[in-house]
Amino acid sequence: MHCRVCKSRAAVEVRRHNAAFCRDHFIDHVTRQVERTIHEFDMFTHDDRLVIGVSGGKDSLALWDILHRLGYRCEGVYLDLGIDVYSTESLDHIERFVKERDLILRVVDLGEEYGFTIPKAAETTRRSPCSACGLSKRYILNEQALKGGYDALVMGHNLDDEGATLFSNVLNWNVEYLARQKVVLPSSDGLVKKVKPLVRVAERETAAYAVLSGIEYEVEECPMVAGNTVNRMKEWMSLLEHRSPGVTQRFLGGFQKVNSFDEEERPTLLSCESCGRPTTGTTCAFCRLRARSSQS
Ligand code: FES
Ligand code: ZN
Ligand code: ZN
Repeated sequence: MHCRVCKSRAAVEVRRHNAAFCRDHFIDHVTRQVERTIHEFDMFTHDDRLVIGVSGGKDSLALWDILHRLGYRCEGVYLDLGIDVYSTESLDHIERFVKERDLILRVVDLGEEYGFTIPKAAETTRRSPCSACGLSKRYILNEQALKGGYDALVMGHNLDDEGATLFSNVLNWNVEYLARQKVVLPSSDGLVKKVKPLVRVAERETAAYAVLSGIEYEVEECPMVAGNTVNRMKEWMSLLEHRSPGVTQRFLGGFQKVNSFDEEERPTLLSCESCGRPTTGTTCAFCRLRARSSQS
């Protein structure tokens, strides 16, 4: 296998593009995919102040590296979920990354600032840790982006994440979620603009990018992942992708063009009586989770 660009020995094969690349040209290829997505969806400009939610895993660190190299003004937020060694190790990786590039990072400790951790929330609510984790991340990252006055919140969801989420939303005809599954979610009352520049890059490609760029990331999976439904969908999608390279991109790309599950599906939003953020009920899901999980 030879690099499509320089014909030297290839380091990575990208089957869905029917191509292979050497180290440098693979890094260029991924960077160009991200750049193209930013421009095509009019995500942000070099004048905007961005904040990225970083977990210490390959996706968010690879994306932050790309944005930094492309000259975007991007700071980071890490949410410490209190999941033992996993959380501390993830933070170690991020701190090293930030120091090497002289970037700005804000750490939010869920336990210290909100009075509960994800293991505690899972125990008290008897629900899957991932639902408490996803809910807390969405709420707190939005909160941080609003407080910091950033123009957009950048998320590291890759092609496989978005493909699996779409698959799950379609299988369950979750119309409300389909309406909100967008590459760019514009800002609205109490919600900051949210963008996903990594949607054209597959998971194994972000991993390859991180390894070839010398980025050390948390390779261990979250110890609370059992029962994560998106992961199960990812396994199904990867079987399809294996038999039919490019199917995930066509599935997601087509949806992005035709997504018309729009406004009329959106419920009327009220203000949470505890925190003031938008909600469909009287108290938002995060405030309810926090109230239940902080009881000892
Ligand atoms: Fe779901 Fe960690 S809590 S993967
Ligand atoms: Zn090459
Ligand atoms: Zn609330």
